[in-house]
Amino acid sequence: MKLEILVGMIASGKSTYARQRADDGAIVICHDDLTAMVHASYRYEQEKRDLYREMEEAIVRVALEAELDVVIDRTHLTRESRWRWISFAREEQVRIEAVVFAVESAAVHARRRCYSDPRGRAFEEWLRVAEHHASQAAEEPFYDHEGFDEIVHKIPALNAASV
Ligand SMILES: Nc1ncnc2c1ncn2[C@@H]1O[C@H](COP(=O)(O)OP(=O)(O)O)[C@@H](O)[C@H]1O
Ligand SMILES: [Mg+2]
Repeated sequence: MKLEILVGMIASGKSTYARQRADDGAIVICHDDLTAMVHASYRYEQEKRDLYREMEEAIVRVALEAELDVVIDRTHLTRESRWRWISFAREEQVRIEAVVFAVESAAVHARRRCYSDPRGRAFEEWLRVAEHHASQAAEEPFYDHEGFDEIVHKIPALNAASV
């Protein structure tokens, strides 16, 4: 039983990986879907941050109680967002793993989002999101000594199309 934290920009393969883990029996908490559920549409409201966090933690606790692996599918690009789960896992006495996805240029990520799941938004909007994520990733890079029990780096397959 473990808690897996995905770390990556938009369209870096997090949800694709999460689906595989769900097929293996893990419980997946996708932050995008959680906020979409409470707002009845794809949206994030900063002032609702505590509500989102309480919801995430409630689901994680129930799943761990049932001895299920849990995957948290959100960007986790800030150190605080990662540290939050490391300290949570310590309190709950559960193993914590980070699955880290490769960072490419903002344009590559925005383009992939547009091709795969644009959610009604234009390329320019996704580019702004990807640029924000790229600056977060640059300002607070993932370190191997942040406190995770295990770290898996997902490197894109050599022959993967960089769309
Ligand atoms: N490294 C990669 N190279 C090429 N395509 C990728 C890569 N990672 C993800 N994709 C594709 O990008 C799209 C978005 O992936 P997704 O899993 O939804 O990303 P995320 O959840 O991180 O936003 C999917 O079509 C996926 O197949
Ligand atoms: Mg996703």
